[in-house]
Amino acid sequence: MEPQIRSVINELPTYKAGKKVSAVADLSPYKLSSNENPTQPLPSVLKAIADSALDINRYPDPNVTELTNELAKRFAVDSDSIATGTGSVGVCQQIMQAVAGAGDEVIYAWRSFEAYPIITKIVGATPVEVPLTNGIEHDLDAMLQAITPRTKLILVCTPNNPTGAIVKHQKLTEFLAKVPKNILVVIDEAYVEFNQDPDAVRGLELFTEYKNVGVLRTFSKAYGLAGLRVGYFIGPKNVAEAVRKTAVPFGVSSVAQSAAVLSLQHEDELLLRVEELNQLRVWFESELTKLGFNLPASQANFVWLPLGERTDEFVAECAKVAVAVRPFSGEGVRISIGEKPALERVLNVLSRFNVS
Ligand SMILES: Cc1ncc(COP(=O)(O)O)c(C=O)c1O
Repeated sequence: MEPQIRSVINELPTYKAGKKVSAVADLSPYKLSSNENPTQPLPSVLKAIADSALDINRYPDPNVTELTNELAKRFAVDSDSIATGTGSVGVCQQIMQAVAGAGDEVIYAWRSFEAYPIITKIVGATPVEVPLTNGIEHDLDAMLQAITPRTKLILVCTPNNPTGAIVKHQKLTEFLAKVPKNILVVIDEAYVEFNQDPDAVRGLELFTEYKNVGVLRTFSKAYGLAGLRVGYFIGPKNVAEAVRKTAVPFGVSSVAQSAAVLSLQHEDELLLRVEELNQLRVWFESELTKLGFNLPASQANFVWLPLGERTDEFVAECAKVAVAVRPFSGEGVRISIGEKPALERVLNVLSRFNVS
């Protein structure tokens, strides 16, 4: 006899975090496998982290008051519309717990963020995965067709992880007009700060226009605080309230709260860094195009290389030069825009990689 685990948990795939690689000979290792920001936090943010560490014997503010107020001010929304959590993946799980359970369905595009199927199953709901058009973009028509009386939540990831493709604002507006208003639509904008396409979804605008729409955002990517675990939801007040209730008590540490507040106050400086990463992505994409690769347009801090059956082979070649990239076996590889020398190493590997 042993303690019994729910069968749905036994069947869960384990979340595959982006791997690190070891140094090879005299090559220092680089990690381009988790869409992290390669730059350290701003000195002022580091100071806030060090200062709040002095109070780490105390519990954090469970209501995350200062950060919530700062977000409300920054996005001109009511603080009652905001819920925070341990990274946006934590918030996404809180949302699921709030709106879906056994017998309910959650629709999302596939392939998309790997955590979606896992957290859908954890809450006991059924994932409804709608294939991307050409393996790249959301198929909103098919997502509409997938709605049933059991649908409780639709996730729209834009820019989409791992393909980098955006959903167009106009298309999502048309989609939302047809979605029954009792279904929550969450626009996962984890990478929104990197987007430069004026036609892309403007999630906050849709939140103000539709009573069943919310956005999910994070401090992990553009703001470079992945290790501190803080994300947020801006959505309908009744949903935000429920999402605050499903949060792990004291989940967002005081260190994370103060670093996030400081990051918002120094957003301009951080967005300059985003701009630099975008320039690096544009350069990397053009080098890949010169090498003959046909890439989907990315509006995020990563690119998607659909290498199909050769994915694992390529990833192994990158590991030989101490660079970790993220394989999706049999489909493709996601390469985060990190340090330029690492990207140069990847290009070097690709220049020797026969893709015909
Ligand atoms: C689309 C998307 N949403 C959410 C997350 C979660 O990020 P975090 O939990 O660090 O906020 C990620 C992380 O990679 C992501 O790609």
